Amino acid sequence: MAMERFSSLLPIVLVFLCLLRTDAGDQPLSKIAIHRATVGIDGSAHVRASPMVLGLKGEDIEWVIVEVRSSNPTADDWVGVFSPAKFNSSTCPADIDDPGAQSPYICSAPIKFQIANYSSPDYTKTGKSSLKLQLINQRADFSFALFSGGFMNPKLVAVSNVISFANPKAPLYPRLAQGKSWDEMTITWTSGYSILEAIPFVEWGLKGWPQTRSPAGTLTFTRNSMCGPPARTVGWRDPGFIHTSFLKDLWPNSEYTYKLGHRLFNGSYVWSKLYSFKASPYPGQDSLQRVIIFGDMGKAERDGSNEYSDYQPGSLNTTDQLVKDLENIDIVFHIGDITYANGYISQWDQFTSQVEPIASAVPYMIGSGNHERDWPGTGSFYNTTDSQGECGVLAETMFYVPAENRAKFWYSTDYGMFRFCIADTEHDWREGSEQYKFIERCFASVDRQKQPWLIFAAHRVLGYSSSFYYAAEGSFAEPMGRESLQKLWQRYKVDIAIYGHVHNYERTCPIYQNQCVSKEKSHYSGTVNGTIHIVAGGGGSHLSNFTDVKTDWSIYRDMDFGFVKLTAFNHSSLLFEYKKSSDGNVHDSFTISRDYRDVLACIHDGCEPTTSAT
Ligand SMILES: [Fe+2]
Repeated sequence: MAMERFSSLLPIVLVFLCLLRTDAGDQPLSKIAIHRATVGIDGSAHVRASPMVLGLKGEDIEWVIVEVRSSNPTADDWVGVFSPAKFNSSTCPADIDDPGAQSPYICSAPIKFQIANYSSPDYTKTGKSSLKLQLINQRADFSFALFSGGFMNPKLVAVSNVISFANPKAPLYPRLAQGKSWDEMTITWTSGYSILEAIPFVEWGLKGWPQTRSPAGTLTFTRNSMCGPPARTVGWRDPGFIHTSFLKDLWPNSEYTYKLGHRLFNGSYVWSKLYSFKASPYPGQDSLQRVIIFGDMGKAERDGSNEYSDYQPGSLNTTDQLVKDLENIDIVFHIGDITYANGYISQWDQFTSQVEPIASAVPYMIGSGNHERDWPGTGSFYNTTDSQGECGVLAETMFYVPAENRAKFWYSTDYGMFRFCIADTEHDWREGSEQYKFIERCFASVDRQKQPWLIFAAHRVLGYSSSFYYAAEGSFAEPMGRESLQKLWQRYKVDIAIYGHVHNYERTCPIYQNQCVSKEKSHYSGTVNGTIHIVAGGGGSHLSNFTDVKTDWSIYRDMDFGFVKLTAFNHSSLLFEYKKSSDGNVHDSFTISRDYRDVLACIHDGCEPTTSAT
């Protein structure tokens, strides 16, 4: 009887669990059925945007005023920002498959949108609205279009004049990343200059010293590189050209300045602003070293556009806190679910613009998440559509990581006394897999006397999480995660394992064989006999609930936006802090104090087998 009742409830339970597994938010741009748009130009309506030319003093972010007039205003009128400005001139790709669509199609989603009455509540009475929107330089001109009919049945009523940045092709949004060796910094940026128009390079050198030039490589990709819609259809936008330069043989800890440059074939130069960074410490160097780690930040618009669904409500707070404290940050890890562009390619530019103050100054190391990579039938470990057709191409091109093969997003990187082993949960990580071998090699190859602080990070939770959906699965993590990797964390005495994916903060006790090995909560000292697991997925995307189920291992939970900071003072002393994005204050912390002999201590299976020498 009980079984019968259970099987009749099973479909409901499964639907419920599925709902729990899906992200609650949708990319706001996906709410617009742009390919169903019809045209009904109303001569009495108009849209006017000013100023006509942006960035006259080299700015790459500008505010514009958009004046709307309509003789038939309604509450669901909206204004779409299109770039390139001639948005209805494109030929629709064959795979926009919507038999209900009427010609002429509009085949490109806007890059942002706003409700017409957003800042003019009387719009429906007066037919007059004025919007203040922020634009970033994105390699093409802009126009603003008034639509009636809401998002589902948009009807184009009026189109504005065209406005443009003074140099739409300008080199922009540099992001630093550690190279394959500690003394190499890579700089990746975006421009509108192909290799047929200009030669890209970085002019750089020790601050205050003569500068040198290093060449840059150029990558781009086409719509055909996308695996499915919307990235391949309405979400497609030309990504421009993505350049990477490798600055080598850096002097540890030294201040460098740099400028992005393009030498046009007529002999003239186009330059970016002047930036600076501090070179990484020599591996094992004893000095103050500060690391920020979080996942799932996404982007948001400072003008309030797109965000009626609060898609990533904490994103700007996190960004702003990091910018505010930048002089106390040496390196950042954003461990997956980077932009949540979800196949709307324009959003990658918006994201790189948002993080530019951080990424241009300290290495901004990314990990791959489901929203970057997953797409059915493309080798992603999880067969979901979460990348919305991007299938990893954007993440792998827009940001550099020191991976052997950027399509397989796992890598190790050293920062002074830290060794980071960054896994890619969207590719197989189980025992026997190529990635498992990499993880073991990363752990095994570190000299703990030089680099005592061994950190494992991955997007999905492979260790422990009390999130509602992992608890509902009964595994409190990705199924098979602990079974596969626990023996490596234990054998190689990983100090801290950090995950994203779950949008909250949680800390466990030090764990060995699924058991807490210490009752201590704030100061760990002596031998290393367990790994502390952290969820730091509250970077910005809508928050995840915790289960009510109590577990022994969970010792701090916070359903809020935040990020974690690791500070190594020296080889014996590490401070861990969890900071909220809203106030930048520390809301959870602990310290680890120990010496090299404590790492070497033969506990559990963490020692090489020994033979007695005589
Ligand atoms: Fe995720």
